[in-house]
Amino acid sequence: MKPETYLSSSAILKRARFSPYLFTLLAFIVFVAILYGEDLNCILGQPFQLYSSDSEQQSSNQPILRIEKKNKRPLPFAIGKTKEGCDVFGGGWVRDELNRPLYEESECPYIQPQITCQAHGRPDREYQYWRWQPHGCSLPSFNATLMLETLRGKRMMFVGDSLNRGMYISLVCLLHRSIPKNAKSMKTSDSLTVFTLKDYNATIEFYWAPFLLESNSDNAVVHRIQDRIVRKNSITKHGKFWKNVDIMVFNTYLWWMTGLKFKILQGSFEDEEKDIVEVATEDAYRMAMKNMVKWVKKNMDPNKSRVFFVSMSPSHQKSVDWGEEEGRNCYNQTTIIEDPNYWGSDCRKSIMQVIREVLSKSEVPITFLNITQLSSYRRDAHTSIYKKQWSPLTPEQLANPVSYADCVHWCLPGLQDTWNELLFAKLFYP
Ligand SMILES: *[C@@H]1O[C@H](CO)[C@@H](O)[C@H](O)[C@H]1NC(C)=O
Ligand SMILES: *[C@@H]1O[C@H](CO)[C@@H](O)[C@H](O)[C@H]1NC(C)=O
Ligand SMILES: *[C@@H]1O[C@H](CO)[C@@H](O)[C@H](O)[C@H]1NC(C)=O
Ligand SMILES: *[C@@H]1O[C@H](CO)[C@@H](O)[C@H](O)[C@H]1NC(C)=O
Ligand SMILES: *[C@@H]1O[C@H](CO)[C@@H](O)[C@H](O)[C@H]1NC(C)=O
Repeated sequence: MKPETYLSSSAILKRARFSPYLFTLLAFIVFVAILYGEDLNCILGQPFQLYSSDSEQQSSNQPILRIEKKNKRPLPFAIGKTKEGCDVFGGGWVRDELNRPLYEESECPYIQPQITCQAHGRPDREYQYWRWQPHGCSLPSFNATLMLETLRGKRMMFVGDSLNRGMYISLVCLLHRSIPKNAKSMKTSDSLTVFTLKDYNATIEFYWAPFLLESNSDNAVVHRIQDRIVRKNSITKHGKFWKNVDIMVFNTYLWWMTGLKFKILQGSFEDEEKDIVEVATEDAYRMAMKNMVKWVKKNMDPNKSRVFFVSMSPSHQKSVDWGEEEGRNCYNQTTIIEDPNYWGSDCRKSIMQVIREVLSKSEVPITFLNITQLSSYRRDAHTSIYKKQWSPLTPEQLANPVSYADCVHWCLPGLQDTWNELLFAKLFYP
């Protein structure tokens, strides 16, 4: 399905929704179906979802009602539907020098110096020209106007670690050009960064909580702690700052990857004698995921809000993973990994399994943004050595760039813009 098709049919659906006569609606649908030669079911799916709470519709005996009853209520913010059976996360990268990047690094003042690669001397821009192409359909184009109108009077928040912060900044940059100069501001205090859209009475926020739960790495600035400890079932510690959010985007992964076991605090961090148990990392992670689902169920209204969970962001630390000679990493990589089955050693399948298990059991809808596989092809998209360093580099490091290349974070513009295009697709065309 082409992006134009998404938009045209959704515009008609919007009109149809306000039409008092079902006939008009049907006429439109038949018209659209003929016009675009589309699978009728694909178009039919949506309007009947929109009518699902309409009692007049329920009492009528149109054959379409069978479809309607099968479908659940429409998700908030939906204006259309992704083509039936199309997994937007399964696909390939396509070179697109015409339409990428979606903004320029120098044009977006919010990108932290840890991910401004061009400003820090990256010699190539190859990583900026890739577009994600799902196998079964096309992604709708990111429409900043639509996103801004949707956010009017609303609060959107990203909660998680620095990778989620990168995605947050990417979204701000995608919207930046459409907001007049004096109608926006960004402020950070402690764990919370707030981007305010004055004309829209809206905010897009980022909250630092790398484990979602309370931990000894919660300080938004000083958190480089080797011996990480997370407090059991402690989501309300941070969760109290997330209330009344309309669109929520969670992530958590990297910080759990300290080894096979992870330290969980049973009591409180104030206890003199700390009660700490070591459990399998998967079990610790599962506990956090379950806490998140429980928090969402208790605090978010599924009729008015949406929740997303972003899967593991892969790193590219070891060139042997993708069949190159040993001793290289993401440094000096300018091409993507072409092997469609590539996975790498940095992301645990067992963690993906935990995510799948917990989200599939969730009674509240949490939309899964499965960015792991598509990002794993992108060894070229990391910040590498082209970033502001935490501390001055030693002569030994300088002599060997591989030794200090950051193969975890991503340059902006770049890969994370695609994560937001996927968020956009799932928000408006679930
Ligand atoms: C995420 O997507 C990849 C690639 O399409 C797939 O192999 C994997 O099973 C998906 N994960 C989940 C939990 O659905
Ligand atoms: C973007 O969305 C706005 C608001 O819904 C709409 O008016 C406009 O036509 C869209 N632009 C494109 C290029 O689809
Ligand atoms: C701004 O949005 C908030 C919700 O985030 C709402 O409570 C408030 O009434 C809005 N103010 C105006 C002036 O629209
Ligand atoms: C959502 O809306 C439906 C139908 O209007 C209603 O039955 C349900 O109680 C609502 N759920 C919440 C959590 O408000
Ligand atoms: C970067 O990689 C290319 C081959 O892809 C190689 O020719 C070149 O020497 C490398 N440069 C550095 C500085 O490692």
